[in-house]
Amino acid sequence: MSRYALLLSFLCLGCGEAATTPDGGGDAASEPAWSTPALRGPEAALEDENPDPDVVEVHLRAELIEVDLGDGTTREMLGYNGLFPGPVLQAEVGDEVIVHFENHTWDETTVHWHGLRISDQMDGSPRIQEPVAADGGTFTYRFVVPEAGTFWYHPHVRTNEQLEMGLVGTLVVHDRQDPVFDAERVIALDDILIDPSTDEIAPFLAFHPELVHGRSGNVLLTNGRVSPGPDHEARPGQVERWRIVNTANARTMSLSLTGASMRVVGTDAGRLAEPFETTRLELPVGQRYDLEVRYDGPGLVALQSHVLGRDGAGDIVEMAVPVYVVDVGGDAVEPREIVWPELPAPEPRTIDREVEMSFDAIDDPELGILWRINGEAHRTEPLFTFGRGETVRMTLRNLNGQEHPFHLHGQFFEVVGRPGLYDTVLVGGSATVEIIAHLDNPGRWMAHCHILEHAELGMMSEIVVE
Ligand code: C2O
Ligand code: CU
Repeated sequence: MSRYALLLSFLCLGCGEAATTPDGGGDAASEPAWSTPALRGPEAALEDENPDPDVVEVHLRAELIEVDLGDGTTREMLGYNGLFPGPVLQAEVGDEVIVHFENHTWDETTVHWHGLRISDQMDGSPRIQEPVAADGGTFTYRFVVPEAGTFWYHPHVRTNEQLEMGLVGTLVVHDRQDPVFDAERVIALDDILIDPSTDEIAPFLAFHPELVHGRSGNVLLTNGRVSPGPDHEARPGQVERWRIVNTANARTMSLSLTGASMRVVGTDAGRLAEPFETTRLELPVGQRYDLEVRYDGPGLVALQSHVLGRDGAGDIVEMAVPVYVVDVGGDAVEPREIVWPELPAPEPRTIDREVEMSFDAIDDPELGILWRINGEAHRTEPLFTFGRGETVRMTLRNLNGQEHPFHLHGQFFEVVGRPGLYDTVLVGGSATVEIIAHLDNPGRWMAHCHILEHAELGMMSEIVVE
């Protein structure tokens, strides 16, 4: 076995040191006028080529690139605009976004704007949009961003392969009403499966566990570099906003923060009416959390991912692996006052309809493992048709032991018993979860498991909002 062990036991805590992701951005002192926060974390933001302040116009190019994940090996991957992960797309609420997309990869593709409640024609669903042809196909995505929050973009064709190969980026929609922080950071958490015998990205859907549990990587990545990557810097007293996205194929991230205090200020759908404190965050693939992080004093602050690995005695134990580290030092600053504006009270909604979705699998004698929603894999007819504006209680029943992060395109939903609105929710093994969907955005919308291997093997369907 080469440098990579199959379990996570090998995860070396200091191996990101050679990576060069800059902290970037200036010192965000208290400016009088609002300006787009300089996001720290990913290497670049997409450059807005349109002088109109209400229009963001960018070029996005999917292509073959060479990537050093920070482990000193260069591999052929895919990227947007030469980068893995792709550049951050930034806009403000209400902006029109125009993306001139070019596909220079060997496979057809689309771009899906995960979480945005836009027109279904622009959603990147290959059931609606003819995929953009390989080797030079183009498409212009054009939409208005309806709300602020942390989102992401990725293909929706052979997503399990294209995303793992590197086609993924984050999308931040700002709101001028939001407080100004000392810094905003985008933290895209991921993992990648490296084949120890070749040191290349492992083949897809080649092994039974990947068909059953989804593809779990053996290397954790933070913003495209081996976790935790380089240390970042901050001063005691500073307050930051961290936007955390899980872009893995299958791995649910279980996260904690040491050395600083934090509270959750946003979910998939943006700002929370009531921020809340927690010590452990469960972040399934597809989902996002925004954190307000306060550096109370000097020292190392680490976001840690709790993973299973082997200890010295060979037993499988839970280990806390740092995935993002901030070195807090230098002169202390007076902590800024963070005032979150009151959110308007949500319109009261009454439930118009109740439906059930059940998740299970069969082992088909010819096709092998198939993942199903309501007894059907790869369903092409809409599962349900609803009226625009309906509020629907969906009971999500998992009939097997493997977990399913359920994602609904184009809409937000409440998760019963939790604050905030979401577009993705984890349905644990053999668990039942109730969501209340606010079906306000008309169109044909994909509804699927975000474990990309489950989706590829059938756990994919569609609802219609008329
Ligand atoms: Cu992240 Cu169907 O999407
Ligand atoms: Cu699943």
